[in-house]
Amino acid sequence: ATNSHIFLYDEETEQFTFGSALWQDGRREPAVKTLRPSGKGITATIVNQAKPVVINDAPNHPFYQSKTARQWHVSAIAGFPLKYGDHVIGAFTIAFKQPHTFSQDELLLLNLLAEQAAVAVRNAELFADSQRRLQDMSALVDMAKQVTGNLKLQDVLQTTVQILRGLMKARASAITMLSDQGDELVVKAAVGVDAAYMNARMKLEETISGQVVQSSDLIYIRDTYSDPAFLFFDERVRSLLVVPLIVRDEAIGTLTIDSDQPNAFSESDMQLMTIAAAQVGVALQNARLFEKLEARAEELALAYEEIKESDRLKDELVQNVSHELRTPLTFVKGYVDLLMDGGQGLLTAEQQEYLQIVSDKTDEITRIIEDIITLQRIDAGNLALEPVAMAELLQTAVTNHRLVANDRGLSIVADIPAGTAGMVMIDKSRMNQVLDNLIGNAMKFSPNGGTITVTMREQENGVGVIISDEGIGMSKEKYKRIFERFYQIDGSARRRFGGTGIGLAIVKRIIDAHNGDIWVESKVNEGSSFTIMLPKLNSDELVPSV
Ligand SMILES: Nc1ncnc2c1ncn2[C@@H]1O[C@H](COP(=O)(O)OP(=O)(O)OP(=O)(O)O)[C@@H](O)[C@H]1O
Ligand SMILES: [Mg+2]
Repeated sequence: ATNSHIFLYDEETEQFTFGSALWQDGRREPAVKTLRPSGKGITATIVNQAKPVVINDAPNHPFYQSKTARQWHVSAIAGFPLKYGDHVIGAFTIAFKQPHTFSQDELLLLNLLAEQAAVAVRNAELFADSQRRLQDMSALVDMAKQVTGNLKLQDVLQTTVQILRGLMKARASAITMLSDQGDELVVKAAVGVDAAYMNARMKLEETISGQVVQSSDLIYIRDTYSDPAFLFFDERVRSLLVVPLIVRDEAIGTLTIDSDQPNAFSESDMQLMTIAAAQVGVALQNARLFEKLEARAEELALAYEEIKESDRLKDELVQNVSHELRTPLTFVKGYVDLLMDGGQGLLTAEQQEYLQIVSDKTDEITRIIEDIITLQRIDAGNLALEPVAMAELLQTAVTNHRLVANDRGLSIVADIPAGTAGMVMIDKSRMNQVLDNLIGNAMKFSPNGGTITVTMREQENGVGVIISDEGIGMSKEKYKRIFERFYQIDGSARRRFGGTGIGLAIVKRIIDAHNGDIWVESKVNEGSSFTIMLPKLNSDELVPSV
């Protein structure tokens, strides 16, 4: 044969594209540059009728009467449709310049070749298609990552239109959203459009986007020039694809791409846009929630400031009231003591007893007030620091408490290195206050006896002291707050054990002022253990100052 051609055909767009050609002398360019589907030539006919055409006597056939056709000197030609199922995906022709009559065997063979070519073309198409889909999908995944990872509304929208325009090779891309009243669409983000278009508002009834939102269904206008009703917002737009943005089953806006070419978008572009719209919907919802949360966090921060301020005022009040109470209390105490001395006349046993109660209670109030005032006074600046051997301080404390402990049916054990171990720079009387409070608590909260252990351990750069008991213990949720002022684990404990809940607050303040650490471990009904860690004094710091 002189030559053979394959043209590919797209049923949807009704366009031919050149597939392949081969001439006797080895040339590969096509005899005809472009084919029109409406054309009257052999290829268009094959495709339109989806049937083979065989012409043994071309010079006398109506297809070959035009001037140009005659110049080709075609003598015989046969063509076969490339079919895939019911679809025609191209045509295959074979032509002779010398006279030729196609035999039955030849036609059978050529038919077979056409079938195989169709399969090959289809496979190649599928491969290219899946390759392209793969690229699209990974672009979409990238987009999902960027969009859903971003919580600022405006960023989400702008990233989306930018990615979509690139992905769909569109001229422009835009996102509109319903106004708060729901009667207008507002352009929220756009690329490739005039600046004037940004933030433009559109009535629902007047626009394609409005229709899409109202129907919750996408609209694809393949060629705006062939749509007489189309209202141009930009003369350059030839094809336009608008998909709804759906959040919780409701269309809240649109995603748009357009092109200056007709038929710019394919079936799979529509699918991709639909998937993209779903992702943007999720991202929008996240961004909206995030913005609400942010506003809420701001409110809370403000409220927190107010609480802190009122806390400060409360502190000030407690402080002032405490000071004011001190003087009158000394008077009460003084007069009660005077009365009890009997100097003002003898008292009955009953009167003695009542006055004793008044005196005891006055002492209690005085102690509380002193505690409150102390609490405010302790800071690093007014500690009387001196080098102290922690081991010695602890030994003394244990000895001092032993009597009271034994009276309450408790044993107190010291696990402390002998001598002057554990040198620390501390305020001795404040540290004694710490130990009194901790050992005091250990005794108070061990109503059923048991052992209280005071342990000291020297570490590389710290001295650790542990005071543990086998008393009532406390649960983890509760013991987070025990270092706060006036905090007691439950109301009934106050009635049962007394106290004001200020002891540990003082302890914590003193330890903090020493740059130390304090923490607690405890289990309900098994006991508690408080650990103090103090910075160790280096030996070179021990040199006495002159
Ligand atoms: N060793 C312990 N065992 C169990 N609970 C404890 C222990 N030490 C403290 N607590 C709990 O922590 C709370 C706070 O202790 P804190 O010493 O501050 O106050 P308090 O002993 O109740 O009163 P105050 O010390 O002012 O007399 C206590 O009321 C108690 O509920
Ligand atoms: Mg206490």
